[in-house]
Amino acid sequence: MRKKIVAGNWKMNKNPFEAIEIAKKLKNEIKNNNDSETIIFVPSIDLFCVSEILKASQIKIGAQNFYFENNGAYTGEISAQMLKETGINYALVGHSERRILFGENDEMINKKIARALEHQITPVLCVGENLQQRENNLTTEFIRMQIKSALKNIKLKNAGKIIIAYEPIWAIGTGKTADKNQAQEICYEIRKVLGEIYNLNLASQIRILYGGSVNLKNADELFEMQDIDGGLIGGASLKEDFISIANNICKTNFADMEIHV
Ligand code: 13P
Repeated sequence: MRKKIVAGNWKMNKNPFEAIEIAKKLKNEIKNNNDSETIIFVPSIDLFCVSEILKASQIKIGAQNFYFENNGAYTGEISAQMLKETGINYALVGHSERRILFGENDEMINKKIARALEHQITPVLCVGENLQQRENNLTTEFIRMQIKSALKNIKLKNAGKIIIAYEPIWAIGTGKTADKNQAQEICYEIRKVLGEIYNLNLASQIRILYGGSVNLKNADELFEMQDIDGGLIGGASLKEDFISIANNICKTNFADMEIHV
């Protein structure tokens, strides 16, 4: 049984003073449970203070980005090694905003995945097509290519630690959510390609999240789909909604759901 995940991506929002207040609220209001996990991806400047607040809680903290070298003359960057030494165990890799706005390519993303795993950081690999690719029926082919290049040379024994987030670019921050069947179809394809690269057993264990305008109204129906193991939430992660989504997910009974690949 794959444990569901409700993850929040704060993006470039909230200074450390604000972040501390939000972290305290999440700590008080998100109920502890063993059936799901909550992770928040905060700006680099907030990582340390938020981790101090949440260290005794079940809520986990992740970085939104890091560079693929361990240290050196890379002005402005932080490394996976630094994250690990600060007690951070998760990091987003290949978010579409980083690919589009900061020129991250598949090769860099592959290096980051390898580096995160080397430092026992769980990478959350983000993939997703743009509107033109969807309209031209290129979605599956493109997502398969993104997964294959991100996981190039990543060994089976490490691959099981990865989490994948399917985030169609046209659904990010637009209020236009992929409907539950569109999201399920691609999450299933992702599981299928993982089965081809590794094996069916591993493919059935990896958690695949959906992201793109997830909110309190659509979260439950998306997360109930067979291959969707939770969400990566942007805008709504900065609202009260995030607490409700995280608390609702543990009320939903997924126990009877069949795992398939
Ligand atoms: P929104 O939920 O604001 O659409 O953002 C999704 C996202 O990019 C999460 O990483």
